[in-house]
Amino acid sequence: MPENMQPLPRHVAIIMDGNGRWAKQHKFEIAMGHRRGVETLREIVRCSSDLGLEVLTLYAFSTENWKRSQAEVAALMGLVLDFFHSDIDELNERRVKIRILGDTDALPGPQREAVRGAQEITAGNTGLQLNIALNYGSRDEIVKAARDLASLVKEGRLEPEQIDQSLFASKLYTAGQPDVDLLIRTSGELRLSNFLLYQNAYAEMMFPEALWPDFSVEQFRAALASFGKRDRRFGGRNA
Ligand code: IPE
Ligand code: IPE
Ligand code: MG
Repeated sequence: MPENMQPLPRHVAIIMDGNGRWAKQHKFEIAMGHRRGVETLREIVRCSSDLGLEVLTLYAFSTENWKRSQAEVAALMGLVLDFFHSDIDELNERRVKIRILGDTDALPGPQREAVRGAQEITAGNTGLQLNIALNYGSRDEIVKAARDLASLVKEGRLEPEQIDQSLFASKLYTAGQPDVDLLIRTSGELRLSNFLLYQNAYAEMMFPEALWPDFSVEQFRAALASFGKRDRRFGGRNA
């Protein structure tokens, strides 16, 4: 019998962690861990699209990940390019709508072009909203929102008193999307690593031990089923 997954979270966000440790475990080069990670990503996107999930956000590259070796950064950037080239047709057929969260201006030219194209091609789609966090940092995002609002005030187009939570949220990369309902971080690490600090305010969190390349669709479905049993209170009391 298929597990009961109701109610489904509207917005699932995943910190895809553990590629490096997976590669090490198998005595492969790091790049192979990332390559296997893309395979997991593809399966999780397919499953989310099949289930009719509303929003899926995947943390692919943080503003801090530039600290890694040039070779590793190059491998990751290469995979970004490969992914958009190889998967854009299937994503589009599934009516997946792509949005990149993060500062894409700082990406290398080909990657910038690939993500621009992917967003443009899928802009009219009404299926799964797939957010890919790429050169993303939550503190950067929040500071950028504050700066945008300050500029509007300076130009006389906004009064400080008009700034409320919904206006603030509309300046984040996730503008117009619901807050995160379920946050999953693989590999057993128990931290947020600068991911969606504003949007995760009342997210349910799960930290499966599996390294990202080993994380399966079955484990994902089990996480969704277990989300359905969580007692969410948002500060209030449930009867
Ligand atoms: C996550 O895997 C992928 C990215 C950060 C791009 P890691 O590369 O962080 O894997 P570990 O944490 O070293 O195992
Ligand atoms: C978070 O993982 C970033 C991504 C998964 C893209 P990291 O592996 O970079 O985070 P830390 O350094 O362990 O906190
Ligand atoms: Mg990591």
